[in-house]
Amino acid sequence: PLVALVLAGGTGTRLYPASRSDRPKQFLPLGDDQSLLTATVSRADFADHVVVSTRPAFADEISDHAPDADVVVEPAAKDTGPALVYATHRIAELYDDPVVAVLPSDHHVGDGFAEAVVRGARVAADTDRLVAFGVEPTRPDTGYGYIEPGLDRGDYHDLDAFHEKPDADTATRYVEEGYLWNAGMFAWTPEALFSAATDSPLGPLVDALDAGDIDGGFETVEPVSIDYAVMERAADAAVVPVHFEWDDLGSWDALERIFDADAEGNVALGDDPVFVDAADNVVATDGANVSLVGVSDLAVVSWGDRVLVVPKAEAQRVRDVVARLKERG
Ligand code: GDD
Ligand code: MG
Repeated sequence: PLVALVLAGGTGTRLYPASRSDRPKQFLPLGDDQSLLTATVSRADFADHVVVSTRPAFADEISDHAPDADVVVEPAAKDTGPALVYATHRIAELYDDPVVAVLPSDHHVGDGFAEAVVRGARVAADTDRLVAFGVEPTRPDTGYGYIEPGLDRGDYHDLDAFHEKPDADTATRYVEEGYLWNAGMFAWTPEALFSAATDSPLGPLVDALDAGDIDGGFETVEPVSIDYAVMERAADAAVVPVHFEWDDLGSWDALERIFDADAEGNVALGDDPVFVDAADNVVATDGANVSLVGVSDLAVVSWGDRVLVVPKAEAQRVRDVVARLKERG
């Protein structure tokens, strides 16, 4: 069967202060009447089964957003590498001959999504290769992974290289050289994932899970994303180029690509701000009335008792705020 594996265990630090460790972005409605997680699970209806993967702290909340999905809770929050190895291991126990389609829960996608995922899953099942999905880049975004497509094999290309979150100069070069963005979605059979993980920091975790020592495996594994741990090392992966509308709602600058702007280019979420001589700003609030005068290209967010102001171009750096607050305790 085709099993959609929805990732919903991140803390969404770059969407601070709307996203907080106790209420991360996947549980927020963000401009819609349903949460990002609910939207992700409903569009996974092409799959035979839907499994939601999350960390212990969010386990209880998942059923409010995805009442019909099975939930797999990793024993400790160690980023997407360990989470995906664990969830895939569970799926291999639960179903016969599964092919897994990994879907993040912070995406905005357009028509053609389901068809593309099914196509990628078929490549994964037919070839036993790890399959990534490649999006045509429109700017040198440093928040994404980059994929160098190789030999064209019809439905897919060989994946010649994978580079997670490069610096700005490198990203510019990758865009010029025709690399694709990693959509953060993957397809694989359990065998393909475990064999690619063997020579990676996740190898010992795979062995521990095979031996039934789940807690021991999670105790020793270092936090690492699937992109750094497996995809950057994968010797035999494939990339399926996709052409549906795609965006990651990972940082505040993304809102302007998804929601309509006024005549001055300002985008407002959740309120009706006053803009005086202000252009190309993003404002998001959960109630406060915000006014902007004579400023441009800012993201201004008021949520609960917190306020954030950041140039849109530096929206990725909001994760440093969260790190700083964490240091303060
Ligand atoms: N279960 C679980 N456990 N899920 C997690 C964890 C965890 O510890 N950490 C993050 N997630 C979930 C998030 O909730 C999200 O749905 C998904 O995994 C991806 O995490 P992000 O934090 O949003 O990753 P990213 O956007 O920075 O980078 C990834 O996606 C990009 C495209 O959207 C990478 O795959 C990039 O290469 C890619 O370009
Ligand atoms: Mg993301």
